[in-house]
Amino acid sequence: MEKNTLNYIDKNNIPNHIAIIMDGNGRWAKKRFLPRTFGHKAGVETIREIVKECSSLGIKYLTLYAFSTENWKRPKDEVSALMNLLIQYLKKEIKELHENNVIFNTIGDISYLPNAAIEEIQKSKEVTKDNTGLTLTLALNYGSRNDIKNAIVNILKDYKNNRIDIDDVDEEFIRNYLSTKSLPDPDILVRPSGEYRVSNFLLWEIAYSEFWFSDIYWPDFRKENLHKLILDYQSRERRFGGLK
Ligand code: IPE
Ligand code: IPE
Ligand code: MG
Repeated sequence: MEKNTLNYIDKNNIPNHIAIIMDGNGRWAKKRFLPRTFGHKAGVETIREIVKECSSLGIKYLTLYAFSTENWKRPKDEVSALMNLLIQYLKKEIKELHENNVIFNTIGDISYLPNAAIEEIQKSKEVTKDNTGLTLTLALNYGSRNDIKNAIVNILKDYKNNRIDIDDVDEEFIRNYLSTKSLPDPDILVRPSGEYRVSNFLLWEIAYSEFWFSDIYWPDFRKENLHKLILDYQSRERRFGGLK
């Protein structure tokens, strides 16, 4: 890939919100005859690089799918390695995230995570809550169907308590019950690793997102790949059902 990808990016048409399904860690490791957890570790290095680059490009929202509601099906050892990596990442990284003006956020039901992870998440949110730069959202124990289910439960509860008038229910109203309510819809959904599916990520929110796929495994994903996807994004015409 060309080295100077950055020079071609139109600074006036940077996507506001990039969502990434970080995939391919296991296969990256397997290719090197290493245990899968080595791939997850290498994937954390990519997170560091991409968060930094998004920050310096002035992107406002980056949402990373880190652990799905279905990932609990994996072997216990792998799940606990992932949880430990999360704890270590936050412990190590939060100072720099804060210095870079990043707001740390999560979506998904974190109450099922180990206590040590919950504590680090809460600390990280507290420390960075007044920042004004990139909002970094990690999707943890996140599944979009579960999120929509929770929204329906909460709407029904509020209805039962006479807090809702049926005439109030429109798309904006529903959005406000989702865990993504403080985030704008992603402009672009990115999935590396050669898989072409959404895997229960942001089903409501990606209604008009641009999709970008690549065969690169997440641990091999570099800032030049980020530049490339932004360039591709800038060449697309978004019509939202209308005409040019
Ligand atoms: C993504 O990589 C990380 C998580 C899902 C937590 P994978 O672990 O899914 O890697 P592959 O898809 O098996 O290569
Ligand atoms: C999606 O990747 C979830 C995350 C990246 C956290 P998976 O590897 O779990 O998805 P499938 O099983 O290939 O669809
Ligand atoms: Mg995978």
